[in-house]
Amino acid sequence: MHPEFIIVKKDAQPHVAHIQLNRPKELNALNLQLMGELRDALKELDADDSTRVIVLSGNDKAFAAGADIKQMAGKTAIDMYNIDQFSTWDTIKKTKKPIIGAVSGFALGGGCELAMLCDMIVASETAKFGQPEIKIGVMPGAGGTQRLTRAVGKALAMEMVLTGKFISAREAQQAGLINRVVPVELFLEEAFRLAAEVAQMSPLAVKMAKEAVLKSFDTTLEEGLHFERKNFYLLFASEDQTEGMQAFVEKRAPVFKGR
Ligand code: HXC
Repeated sequence: MHPEFIIVKKDAQPHVAHIQLNRPKELNALNLQLMGELRDALKELDADDSTRVIVLSGNDKAFAAGADIKQMAGKTAIDMYNIDQFSTWDTIKKTKKPIIGAVSGFALGGGCELAMLCDMIVASETAKFGQPEIKIGVMPGAGGTQRLTRAVGKALAMEMVLTGKFISAREAQQAGLINRVVPVELFLEEAFRLAAEVAQMSPLAVKMAKEAVLKSFDTTLEEGLHFERKNFYLLFASEDQTEGMQAFVEKRAPVFKGR
């Protein structure tokens, strides 16, 4: 089935796939179909050996202005329970390959939460991050109170979540929410440049390193260190470890294969 609300380019760049959210008239509001399409595309790319890194973007004006308010407006609590939209988000969260968010314009509500599900964020100078759910009588539901607080700390997170205030790309960078800010005409290029850098590494090591960094968010230091060490040892079973260390000794560039 052809997706309607996203555009997927598997080989946008060697080993780098591009998923573009594509509901421009609605500022990429995340309706259920779009989220389902995104989940399916990420699952497919995660299983595809030629893909090592995924770039997720919207367009210049909007990464995503949140969950689709019009689709949610008439729902009851029981509807919400039965639809269980967050199971889609749970699957997205399990993506093993790194996802680089390329954010320009609005990243609000579910849009900010989706950006925060990415492993690194490159933003344009026009990017605006916010959790404005409070203004429509609800609150963040896909990580906005948890991931945002871990990224920017209690003071700013509380202010954003309780007042709905937006922050600029520069403020987001200063607060530690995003990796870098570039002029709007360069945000995609910069995201792909970062993706290319990661795509040169051993894809196995990249996946295990991502897994270990994410582990730090929901475990104790002791358990996290243990987890890290297991992944480190495990990589010594890979051809890429042999190749990487051999290449260093031979003073040449390694050729990683992902096994
Ligand atoms: C549905 C949306 C939308 C949204 C924008 N649109 N955001 N539709 N859901 N979240 C639609 C508008 O209705 C409009 O369509 C078109 O996109 C353009 O938007 P405008 O408002 O005309 O643009 P502008 O004046 O530039 O204002 C941009 C904006 C504003 C500041 C981003 O659209 C806005 O405040 N949007 C809502 C942001 C928000 O509250 N997000 C959180 C949602 S709750 P029409 O057809 O009317 O012209 C949420 C919960 C997360 O995300 C739970 C986890 C999934």
